Order: sequence, then C-alpha cells, then structure tokens
Amino acid sequence: MNVIFLGPPGAGKGTQAQRICDALNIPQISTGDILRRAMKEETPTGLKAKQYVEAGKLVPDEVIIDIVRERLAMDDCQNGYILDGFPRTVPQAEALDTIAKIDVVVDLDVADEVLINRLSGRRVCLACGATYHVDHLNGETKCAKCGETLIQRKDDSAETVLNRLNVYHEQTAPLVDYYQKKGNLKVIDGAQDMDTIFESILTVVKG
Ligand code: AP5
Repeated sequence: MNVIFLGPPGAGKGTQAQRICDALNIPQISTGDILRRAMKEETPTGLKAKQYVEAGKLVPDEVIIDIVRERLAMDDCQNGYILDGFPRTVPQAEALDTIAKIDVVVDLDVADEVLINRLSGRRVCLACGATYHVDHLNGETKCAKCGETLIQRKDDSAETVLNRLNVYHEQTAPLVDYYQKKGNLKVIDGAQDMDTIFESILTVVKG
C-alpha cells in the first residue's frame, strides 16, 4: 500500500503518519525529517536546503525528487510506505508518477487559524521525530519517548508559519485537484481529535 499524506503545515501529517506506519508496519518517508537530519549533519544537501527550510520556502524540485527517488528504491519500501510531505508541487507529483504507483492520497483538511495555533505551540524531538504541543506538556522539556531535549523548529516562528501557509496555498493546494482528477483522493477533517482521525485514515488506507 503506497500512500501520500497531503495537507497544509500543521495539519497532523507527521503525527498520523507515525501512528499509521506503526499500525501497518511500513516506513514513514517524511521529506521534512530527511531535510532536517541533513541540515543537522551539515551534508551537502542539508547545506543547500537550510536557507529554504528556515525561510518557509520549498526546496527546489530537483533536489527533493532525487531524495525521494533514492529513498523509494530502498528495500524497506517494497511492501508499501507513507509519503509525508511529498509531493508538494505539480512537477513533484508528475515526477512521482514516473517512479511509483500510488494507491491512496489522504488529504488532511484544517483551517488556517487552527494551523497557526498548532504550529506556534509545537515542540519536537530532533532525535526520534516525536511531536508535542506546549498545551499538553505541562512544562516538560524532554521527549517522553527518548529523553532528548525538545525544541521549537526555526520554521515554526510566527512570521515563517505565515510564509509556509502562503506557499502551501499557492504551490501545494493545486495537488488536491490533481489527485481528485485521478480518483484516489480521500479528504479527512483534520480538525477532529487525533484518535478519530487515526481511525478514519486506517479505514480509507485499508480500503
Ligand atoms: P515538513 O516537515 O514536511 O513540514 P510541513 O508540511 O510544514 O508539516 P509540519 O511538519 O509542519 O506539520 P504536520 O502536518 O506534519 O503536523 P504535525 O503532525 O507535526 O517540511 C518542512 C520544510 O521542509 C518545508 O517548509 C520545506 O522547506 C521543506 N520541504 C519538505 N518537503 C518538501 C518538498 N516535498 N518539496 C520542497 N520542500 C520540502 O502536527 C502539528 C502540531 O499539531 C503538533 O504540535 C501536533 O501535536 C498537533 N496536532 C496534530 N494533530 C492534531 C489534532 N488532531 N488535534 C490537535 N492537535 C494536533
């Protein structure tokens, strides 16, 4: 089962992808996580991506398409995967069509006001990828899963969040139409509670 998670920044793609991947025992391929790891390790790709990611802009298509092409060729992807945050432009979607057959595209639909609140309060663990919100941390600063210190992503600052939302509406939202026309799009209300969303996604992914 090859699945795409589509949706604006803060829609819950990463949160739900982790849970669904655990449930189905398939890998989560988050292009954002791959780029943040490369930036932390200061690889050539990471150094190239840094200026774009920190400004809330998209990394150039050719960079990200190569990353995904290589990742999808790995052994652990042969029984399915969730693409979390890719594709994000029509050229990326067209490139993906030449690389893989996608079974379902899950679009998490959430209003901008909700997204701004979620992102400004988000805290993440760069070591294991776990995500939290300050409203539920009760002052805790360490990751409950691995004990690492939680941080606020640079691109979760107020100004950059607005840039990311603009970029989403201009460059990524057209993909809703793209996959609607292909007939494999499933829209899910991403403003519901996390367990309800999880069950809804599991139902559509299992078909
Ligand atoms: P990426 O890391 O993919 O960021 P994003 O798409 O902006 O998505 P986020 O990680 O911000 O949000 P999410 O939907 O995963 O939400 P989450 O589950 O964390 O990309 C970062 C950057 O990398 C991009 O800006 C770009 O520069 C670059 N990049 C990546 N892919 C690229 C590509 N394909 N092409 C070009 N450039 C690319 O949840 C958010 C918060 O809400 C959390 O605090 C969570 O706890 C909370 N939450 C989640 N669900 C709920 C719920 N149901 N109710 C209440 N709270 C919730």
